[in-house]
Amino acid sequence: MMRLENKTAIITGSARGIGKAFAEAYVREGARVAIADIDLERARATAEEIGKGCIAVHLDVTRQDSIDAAVAEVETAFGGIDILINNAALFDLAPIVEISRESYDRLFSINVSGTLFMLQAVAKSMIARGQGGKIINMASQAGRRGEALVGVYCATKAAVISLTQSAGLDLIKYGINVNAIAPGVVDGEHWDGVDALFAKHENRPLGEKKRLVGEAVPFGRMGTAQDLTGMAVFLASSDADYILAQTYNVDGGNWMS
Ligand SMILES: NC(=O)c1ccc[n+]([C@@H]2O[C@H](COP(=O)([O-])OP(=O)(O)OC[C@H]3O[C@@H](n4cnc5c(N)ncnc54)[C@H](O)[C@@H]3O)[C@@H](O)[C@H]2O)c1
Repeated sequence: MMRLENKTAIITGSARGIGKAFAEAYVREGARVAIADIDLERARATAEEIGKGCIAVHLDVTRQDSIDAAVAEVETAFGGIDILINNAALFDLAPIVEISRESYDRLFSINVSGTLFMLQAVAKSMIARGQGGKIINMASQAGRRGEALVGVYCATKAAVISLTQSAGLDLIKYGINVNAIAPGVVDGEHWDGVDALFAKHENRPLGEKKRLVGEAVPFGRMGTAQDLTGMAVFLASSDADYILAQTYNVDGGNWMS
């Protein structure tokens, strides 16, 4: 049985990485998916690759006009939105005394403001339609505790966990469930970038940080984007109707809560 049959979803930052894997999983479960990304060319290629049910939409989550236009475009294309995954995010790394305001503003505007105002725009659309919905925010193990070199990114993900709680409590009266997923370390282009930043700041050869974080996972390896899709399908399905304001760790045992 397909668990998201006749459902429509918008997934931010899904031109590549974890968001792309979510889009593939949702389409397999019968949903139509909007690949909404700042990189429209890559979003188009991804939508074409996944095929059935996918459209590509330009979206910059840091701009309200872009959020409003993307939500309107998906409403028109699909006739309404049942599921949102707030997945777009940016990472940076710096010792506390070297954090720049530019990096701080950029990360907060994508990871926190982007998540909140995208959630708000889609919630308004869901409320107007009157059929409820499911919203999933991408948090991180980084939001569970600080890390010496990752201060800003950790703070953005802690904010995502907090916003998930408040939005979850406020929106359930409209039948909208808001929850979050906290991955651990997930291999892919994103972590290639993270590894390169650690190599620079911790004076390591490329690839070493990746190997170390993988070995430290209780499961025994880094995660893959596919390791996260089960939770993303579950939280979007009717099996999760009684669940709200929660953040689920899908991290091979890295964090226990
Ligand atoms: N990869 C990991 O190890 C890991 C761990 C924990 C949490 N996460 C979280 O999972 C989510 C997905 O991570 P990923 O590894 O697939 O990242 P990624 O960097 O591979 O993908 C991010 C996508 O977001 C898009 N994007 C960037 N800025 C945007 C903007 N302003 N508007 C719209 N789209 C924008 C990018 O073009 C890209 O396609 C993120 O929220 C990330 O913080 C990832």
